[in-house]
Amino acid sequence: MSILVTGGAGYIGSHTVKELRARGEQVIIYDDLSTGFYQAAQDCMLVVGSLHHYDKLVETMRAFDVDSVVHFAAYSQVGESMNDPGKYYYNNVAGTIKLLNAMKENNVKRIVFSSTAATFGEPDSVPISEETPQHPASVYGTTKLMIEKILRDYDAAYGIRSVALRYFNAAGADESGLIGEAHNPETHLIPLIMQVLLGRREHISIYGTDYPTPDGTCVRDYIHVTDLATAHILSLNALRDGMASTAYNLGNGNGFSVREVIGMVEKVTGRKVATVEGPRRSGDPAVLIASSEKIMRELNWKPKFNELEQIIASAWRWHESHPYGY
Ligand code: UFG
Repeated sequence: MSILVTGGAGYIGSHTVKELRARGEQVIIYDDLSTGFYQAAQDCMLVVGSLHHYDKLVETMRAFDVDSVVHFAAYSQVGESMNDPGKYYYNNVAGTIKLLNAMKENNVKRIVFSSTAATFGEPDSVPISEETPQHPASVYGTTKLMIEKILRDYDAAYGIRSVALRYFNAAGADESGLIGEAHNPETHLIPLIMQVLLGRREHISIYGTDYPTPDGTCVRDYIHVTDLATAHILSLNALRDGMASTAYNLGNGNGFSVREVIGMVEKVTGRKVATVEGPRRSGDPAVLIASSEKIMRELNWKPKFNELEQIIASAWRWHESHPYGY
């Protein structure tokens, strides 16, 4: 029996693969390498394929006796999703339907799905719980919410049980120093700040200083990628134990502003970060903070990296040793 990890050569996927293998699981990565890196697959079995290669999906599941799926493969840039919605609906939504149909054909009945805080849009209040209404403000968030709904229907009709994990701001890198965050192009705050320190860009732009927050910049809930990985393992094991389909929010429950993140990077590295204040980035909610109380209560999940300082220190170790990524 083995676990198929789609998108396992990506940032969160590769960290989850590492944790699954550390627990003795048989893992097959299925990734088209469009945004992932084969180096992130380390020495794991990698099948290079797209979610649209239905026959390849069916064959891979059959050949490796797959009995569970952890599904990361998706495009995930909010801005790009607004400019090219077709790309996002086709890959994320249509691609997931093909994956689910391949599961159905192979009688694979468990899936852990990579969802996002972006399914909530601009919340009325924080912290955001699983009961908070979901009104995505981007095409990206809409694709993930559509998949959450499709998963519920596939459970009702075909008995495929799922856990949707809604990540807040994934950050940091594995302690081994072998895998970490690498995107091309990079759009995320922490790696971009690191690039300033590594001389790859002149400054970090602060997107908006007039938000209704204590220092005027956006507040986010940063969660270590290894803590996200652990949540996938707990979710998969709960599905194996017969848990009904559900969804969980994943964050540390603490908000940090853009300025606070920059200040923490300066503290951790002992270096000054050049900043430029700029206009807001469209679609950015002012404050996103998770309540992860449900997964803590039901699956006993407990983040190990609950200090921003630890998260940033681990990110810096990776970026300093891999200034150009993989
Ligand atoms: N920011 C800057 N300057 C930059 C980049 C980002 O000020 O150069 C700010 C953003 O405006 C935001 C914060 O830093 O307030 C964090 O931005 P990121 O791009 O790192 O992360 P987001 O909060 O936009 O996005 C993350 C995930 C998305 C997910 C979203 C959910 O990366 O996949 O959370 O809201 F959709």
